[in-house]
Amino acid sequence: MLLVTGGAGFIGANFVLDWLAQSDEPVVNLDKLTYAGNLETLAPLNGNPRHVFVKGDIGDAALVGELLRTHKPRAIINFAAESHVDRSIHGPEDFIQTNIVGTFHLLEAVRAYWGGLIGDAKKDFRFLHVSTDEVYGSLGGDDAAFTETHRYEPNSPYSASKAASDHLVRAYHHTYGLPVLTTNCSNNYGPYHFPEKLIPLMIVNALAGKALPVYGDGMQVRDWLYVKDHCSAIRRVLEAGRPGEVYNVGGWNEKPNIDIVHTVCSLLDEMRPRTDGISYKAQIAHVTDRPGHDRRYAIDAGKIQRELGWQPAETFDSGIRKTVDWYLRNADWVTHVQSGAYREWTDLHYGKVEGAVA
Ligand code: NAD
Ligand code: TYD
Repeated sequence: MLLVTGGAGFIGANFVLDWLAQSDEPVVNLDKLTYAGNLETLAPLNGNPRHVFVKGDIGDAALVGELLRTHKPRAIINFAAESHVDRSIHGPEDFIQTNIVGTFHLLEAVRAYWGGLIGDAKKDFRFLHVSTDEVYGSLGGDDAAFTETHRYEPNSPYSASKAASDHLVRAYHHTYGLPVLTTNCSNNYGPYHFPEKLIPLMIVNALAGKALPVYGDGMQVRDWLYVKDHCSAIRRVLEAGRPGEVYNVGGWNEKPNIDIVHTVCSLLDEMRPRTDGISYKAQIAHVTDRPGHDRRYAIDAGKIQRELGWQPAETFDSGIRKTVDWYLRNADWVTHVQSGAYREWTDLHYGKVEGAVA
């Protein structure tokens, strides 16, 4: 079986749902259920004996050790993290605790477990660490996209904490021989994305008649990948990746933020037009920029394509249409995740910036 951490969050939950739809192999899902973890996302698995959910912290070495001894997974996929750049700017401590200290304790528990395996079980074991392109820092407009050998230059507390975790994972391979795999992926979007991140926030605010807060000039560039394509890349790396290797994962789809917001507005204009006939674009508000905002990320996903034959199935046009449609059909999920904690965040973050969300 697999041990998945952070499997009640956006990407982890998509991964678990997709995995159990395609494979008979059971999953133990360890998640702390922070504000970003949501059991409602996993509701389709209620009563499924192949899904074992455990509420807990990756930093709890005793708990992780017990789970490893009880369930004897053949692989661990580590999604658990604090993941939102803006939150890391307001309060970095949780990022240090989970992304660095938590990953360290997880690695120690896994090293002890793996050290006790023998034969093929030891040889075939894998620890797959899910990371981000943000560890590579910011690109200029004409710079080549990030390859796996690009220098690490993280600029936010979030990316610095992920960079530290990547280094620990690398060190456990070089020092102890732990069979690790690392993936560094670009910005994901799709179903079950918490509405604090750009794309779901724009959809949810547009429908609520609120301002669409675009930081600065909106010309910051990100590469976007549909979440189910990220999940297929992780499955492929788990299956065929070489231990100790890093694989960049991306959608070959760089876009400035303002284009993303315009696309979301156009789709909503078509699929759920405003009753007054005015475009949702009228709700766009340019607000104060994020401190230290990285200007451009771009992923060269050539290695995973050449070596493992992976490429995305969705184009941005097909993926963003599916995403907007999902949010329109799942208003209850959105309402339920907008708990008191969510409102506290929007008040803290957007309440203080120019052009505050209505
Ligand atoms: P998310 O914030 O939606 O979910 C994170 C999950 O981890 C939540 O369910 C949360 O409860 C859980 N968690 C947090 N701290 C924990 C702890 N100490 N112990 C156990 N569980 C804990 O994040 P996401 O967007 O799904 O990202 C998943 C992973 O993918 C992260 O490692 C992130 O850095 C990486 N990543 C994300 C993106 C993206 O665009 N979202 C892109 C590339 C890489
Ligand atoms: P985000 O979804 O937070 O992901 P990341 O910072 O990890 O790339 O943001 C994506 C881009 O959108 C980023 O350049 C910041 C910008 N952004 C806005 O302009 N307004 C917003 O309200 C948010 C949340 C993000």
